[in-house]
Amino acid sequence: MCGDENPAPPALDGGGRGDLVVVANRLPVHRTDGGWETSPGGLVSGLLPLLQKRQGVWVGWGGGRASGEIAPFRHDGLWNVPVSLSADEVRDYYEGFANSTLWPLYHDACQQPQFHRQWWQPYVTVNERFAEVAAREAAPGASVLVQDYHLQLVPGMLRRMRPDLRIGFFLHIPFPPVELFSQLPWRQRILEGLLGADVVGFQTKQGAGNFIRLVNRYTPHRGASHSISVYGRRVEVREFPISIDYWKIDQLAADPATIERAREIRAELGPNRTIMLGVDRLDYTKGIDHRIRAFHEILAAGRHTVRDLVLVQVSVPSRDQVDEYIEIRERIETLVGHINGEFGEVGQVPVHYLPRSLPIEKLVAYYLAADLMLVTSLRDGMNLVAKEYCAARRDDTGVLVLSEFTGAAHELQRAVLVNPHDIDGMAVTIERAIAMPRDEQARRMRSLRQRVRKRTAYDWADEFIAVLAGPAHGSSAALAAGDAR
Ligand code: F6P
Repeated sequence: MCGDENPAPPALDGGGRGDLVVVANRLPVHRTDGGWETSPGGLVSGLLPLLQKRQGVWVGWGGGRASGEIAPFRHDGLWNVPVSLSADEVRDYYEGFANSTLWPLYHDACQQPQFHRQWWQPYVTVNERFAEVAAREAAPGASVLVQDYHLQLVPGMLRRMRPDLRIGFFLHIPFPPVELFSQLPWRQRILEGLLGADVVGFQTKQGAGNFIRLVNRYTPHRGASHSISVYGRRVEVREFPISIDYWKIDQLAADPATIERAREIRAELGPNRTIMLGVDRLDYTKGIDHRIRAFHEILAAGRHTVRDLVLVQVSVPSRDQVDEYIEIRERIETLVGHINGEFGEVGQVPVHYLPRSLPIEKLVAYYLAADLMLVTSLRDGMNLVAKEYCAARRDDTGVLVLSEFTGAAHELQRAVLVNPHDIDGMAVTIERAIAMPRDEQARRMRSLRQRVRKRTAYDWADEFIAVLAGPAHGSSAALAAGDAR
């Protein structure tokens, strides 16, 4: 789909055009040969209907370096307002502070976080730029939803620029415990930045609890259970577990073309083999290497061979200029080479490695073909792949093996939970999952599917907007959200 061609309308009196403004590191669209196309994901699916119904504006980076100013454009019923980043800012704000300091720190420091003062100022500058654009774009009294770890200073900056706004912040990744967050040299600035919001949302209760404990320790403000008082202003702090567009996946899984593609995948891989599937961004937090090592243990133990077991690993390249991502890619490719060399036979390899992004139609075909889904993250804010797999299993078969360190594990307790750091323990659990009788699979999968169906991406967005609107407006906002679909 191409962007609409209409020029930007003039700003409204006393403010901008947006009644509901999302501020995120990336726009909800990406460039293709044919123009802009809407990106997949729970955030975009959940918010799109609301943005289309209200005067929706999305402020975000359009990708690329030093791309120059791109004029705001309309696409899919909302205004996209691009924020540009110079090559130095991509290096220092995005690859540096966001993805080499905050990302590893917030993921339990499963890689050493790097603290460099020359990355902090670009983080402040870029946050200021996003806040200024949001302040310009928001209509009087608008609601602004700030997203994720890249933009934690924006709520505070925006409140100073536009005290009339309702400001929400949602963190998509884990929020670390006190002992870890305390390492951050700029910890107080980040906490103060977040406290500029009226609602601060996390994926889990633990994240919300960690935030309140940190605020009590490092700021003059005091919080308990669900709220913090900031000079008499109430900041609501809660968990809002994000989800998927359940019905979209359900529909794709019922499509005869998808079912046929799944049948072909099974036939190509060997109809009598148990198919295990991994689908991840190529990130060291995902435990892809741990998963492959557990698979190696299973084959080495000799109870299974390449003739009865196969792993398909889809790894979507990500942040490929950051050293740790270059290293994890090499580590995984080396592991795949070893395991395939050691246990492969002519015409049959243990690991089919697909280092690329697949369109959702193809992914759902893989979900349908797979007997086991392996989600073995060392730490993960939520993990939507786990939820997508359940949504696709319309016949209640299949086993979800899920790391206990994902946000999803808090909800999907009928999954087979694993500790990915315990490689031999994980190997034993995967073997048990392979042998799980059909009736147990069905009992578990039915309950998992029910759970995912009960809270979709739309419910996530409705709930957040309703809490942001405050008690007086909560129900009507939720109603309006319902209308939008
Ligand atoms: O999970 C956090 C997140 O930032 C998502 O919002 C995003 O889709 C994903 O990681 C990919 O990150 P990036 O924008 O760095 O490619």
